[in-house]
Amino acid sequence: MALPDHVRIVEVGPRDGLQNEPGQIIATEVKVELINRLSDAGLSHIEAASFVSPKWVPQMADGTEVLAAIERKKGVTYSALTPNLRGMENALRAGVDEVAVFSAASEEFTQKNINCSIRESLDRFLPVVELARSENIPVRGYVSTVLGCPYAGDISPQQVAAVSRELIDMGCYEISLGDTIGVGTPLKAKKMLEAVAAEVEIHRLAAHFHDTYGQALANIYAVLEEGLAVVDTSTAGLGGCPYAKGASGNVATEDVVYMLNGLNISSGIDLDKLARTGHWITRQLGRSNGSKVAMALGCEA
Ligand code: HMG
Ligand code: MG
Repeated sequence: MALPDHVRIVEVGPRDGLQNEPGQIIATEVKVELINRLSDAGLSHIEAASFVSPKWVPQMADGTEVLAAIERKKGVTYSALTPNLRGMENALRAGVDEVAVFSAASEEFTQKNINCSIRESLDRFLPVVELARSENIPVRGYVSTVLGCPYAGDISPQQVAAVSRELIDMGCYEISLGDTIGVGTPLKAKKMLEAVAAEVEIHRLAAHFHDTYGQALANIYAVLEEGLAVVDTSTAGLGGCPYAKGASGNVATEDVVYMLNGLNISSGIDLDKLARTGHWITRQLGRSNGSKVAMALGCEA
């Protein structure tokens, strides 16, 4: 299949990137500035917060304050994770444009991440989706561990397809397929996508690949070849999941944009501004930049 002309990037750095940051709680102002810089760099979909239990993920406890303080740029979608009705109500009060529910293809991971079975998680999402619908808020669905689980090992593509189908039937407009611990390789990613695309139209699927084993760009290229055109990324390659031991950051937004530019695939993102943002946030966090492209460009904020 021909590569797409345009790829929609969903920037998950302010959520997936920051949720796992060890040490000190990141200041609300830093999160707000990160989001504002990202929108200025042309990101049109930014996952800005997470309305989960602060006992489970302390770094995301200030979602309401973050959403209240950002400069909302026209045309930009500011979304947040909502694991249950309580999270959804808080997200609505904070004025999100979109929410995301999240389950997994692995029972073991679902238990560790949201303390319930896959079935219970789907049942829990029903009222979330219902409330979202009544407020005209689109709901995205995540399926984690699509290419492997830190607790269960191999995952069957059919299981990924079945959970994805249920989330679509429930009313999610798009399913983001998470290689949570970045263990996938291109052929495996293609086979998984093939199985899911038999159940859910490919234009409703997104790739959410972590780069733990350095395979994310190759895996993204492989699924673009299959016709997928939505990719989740994190500036400077920040992040990881606190409930997936060993999970490192998402694929770096800078690296994906550089690859897309080389393929003549538009994304609407200004790579220099983005790279400066990545350098800025890594300095704020006192950590190294996980984007090879940003390091090569050497931009200074
Ligand atoms: P639980 O302990 O089973 O539920 O947690 P609970 O109802 O007993 O609640 C525990 C406490 O949290 C209670 O407080 C609740 O009130 C409170 P207490 O009575 O003890 O003082 N609580 C909440 N507070 C604020 N907002 C809420 C909320 N809900 C309950 N929404 C729960 C169940 C789902 C809440 C918990 O397991 C949780 O928050 N998990 C979130 C874990 C998480 O955020 N993981 C990272 C995101 S997923 C990810 O990174 C993967 C992804 O990137 C894709 C990929 O890479 O694969 C998306
Ligand atoms: Mg993730």
